Amino acid sequence: MTSQTLREARKYEEAAEKIIKKEDRPDFHLSVRTGWLNDPNGFSYYKGEYHLFYQYYPYEAKWGSMHWGHAVSKDLLHWEYLPAALAPDEAYDKDGCFSGSAVVLPDGRHLLMYTGVVREHQMDDTFCDVQTQCLAVGDGLDYEKYKKNPVLDRRHLPEGASRADFRDPKIWQEKDGTYRCVIGSRPADGSGQILLYTSKNGLDWEFKSILASNHNRFGKMWECPDFFKLDGTWVLLTSPQDMLPKGFEYHNGNGTLCMTGDFDEETGTFTEKSDQSVDYGIDFYAPQTVLAPDGRRIMIGWMQNWDTCNLRSPDEPWFGQMSLPRELSIKDGRLYQKPIKELDTMRQNRIAYSDVAVSGILSLEGIKGRKVDMELTLRPGDEQNLYQKFAVRFAQNDEYHTSLSFRPRESILKVDRKFSGSRRAIIHQRRCLVNSKNGNLKLRIILDRFSVEVFVNDGEHVLTATMYTQQDAEGISFFADGEVNMDIVKYDLI
Ligand code: FRU
Repeated sequence: MTSQTLREARKYEEAAEKIIKKEDRPDFHLSVRTGWLNDPNGFSYYKGEYHLFYQYYPYEAKWGSMHWGHAVSKDLLHWEYLPAALAPDEAYDKDGCFSGSAVVLPDGRHLLMYTGVVREHQMDDTFCDVQTQCLAVGDGLDYEKYKKNPVLDRRHLPEGASRADFRDPKIWQEKDGTYRCVIGSRPADGSGQILLYTSKNGLDWEFKSILASNHNRFGKMWECPDFFKLDGTWVLLTSPQDMLPKGFEYHNGNGTLCMTGDFDEETGTFTEKSDQSVDYGIDFYAPQTVLAPDGRRIMIGWMQNWDTCNLRSPDEPWFGQMSLPRELSIKDGRLYQKPIKELDTMRQNRIAYSDVAVSGILSLEGIKGRKVDMELTLRPGDEQNLYQKFAVRFAQNDEYHTSLSFRPRESILKVDRKFSGSRRAIIHQRRCLVNSKNGNLKLRIILDRFSVEVFVNDGEHVLTATMYTQQDAEGISFFADGEVNMDIVKYDLI
């Protein structure tokens, strides 16, 4: 049943994984088993465990013909690799098994829905990557592709929609037992739209509606949609390509977009009320959510971005890691994120200082490390004379550091990894406009060997960046131009 292509990938990954030392990977963020990883796929809870699949090219640390890698976890922090789940081994997916998602069928089987890609030679001697939606059914380990694949193709597209940009199905089950999925699509205006499909049994699918249209406002094509109700509000997540910047909200290139609004079940249309970035840092893309058994909506993203992929040399044995899983909520129409609560169980060696006066450079006994959970509460040291700047540096030694700096007068928080050891002229800094009154700010900073994730004001804004700084750069220091009064609670994550 298993194809030659999949058998080869499984054999290869098992051997290649062994040459990567545990210490050369992130500790509690999922990284690729070997080779290349991009989007999270098939994020689901099945048979008592979380399953996470990913866009995967095992043979080199660069994007190639897409497989689905596979890992499972009980706590979303400690992952165990399973054999690759899908390989591009059928006529309808021979040029790639692109992104998709998973649900559990009533008979207990695990259903995967993914995009099959076929590079079609055109009459004018050009090529068109035709994309269709396909299914595979399995037991959490082995998956068999559905004999009636593809289940959605050009016949199920609304008029004017492109055959080459039709991808990334996100499937879910309704309370009445029927299924729905949203898929990224490109209409005739060249931008993006999200299509909604329905199914009675998860196998036979019908076009329902155009759920939402970009009209060239937020980038071009919309990739990797997700759609769910959260705290009484409908939320549409998508990752637009080719964004233009807008203030401090959106940056150039591949971005992440969260829209909240209303959903008309009858017509299958979404009406937007608000929009925002999902992540304001450098490395975050193509997030996908799962509804946990306890009702939490948990999101995980590719902790990378297409525009910054060459941060790391392709000679390394692995490239690509996932973000920390984040619990989502809606407050005053805004998406909030916080690290999953399971992370608290990894907190050890608590060190706390209260009311520390920071003015100039400061180091604190016991505050260092590269696997760290650190909460900073900042207050102005002198309300009459507001400080100019506060900064925290980490992954630091004499040569290297990455920093977060905050200018209260502009309310701008900046992440800067220029001195993280990167040898490429790519984006190394990003600024975010945060909410701060009189220099008060709360930061939760999570470090894991090759990344930093910053949760501002209990998750009102999040900034994510990767950094491949050598691990002995583990210093952490503080700086203030002016006077800052700081509380700090720091844990090692073990
Ligand atoms: C997003 C994406 C998806 C596609 C996949 C291919 O990062 O471009 O739209 O399915 O990556 O690997």
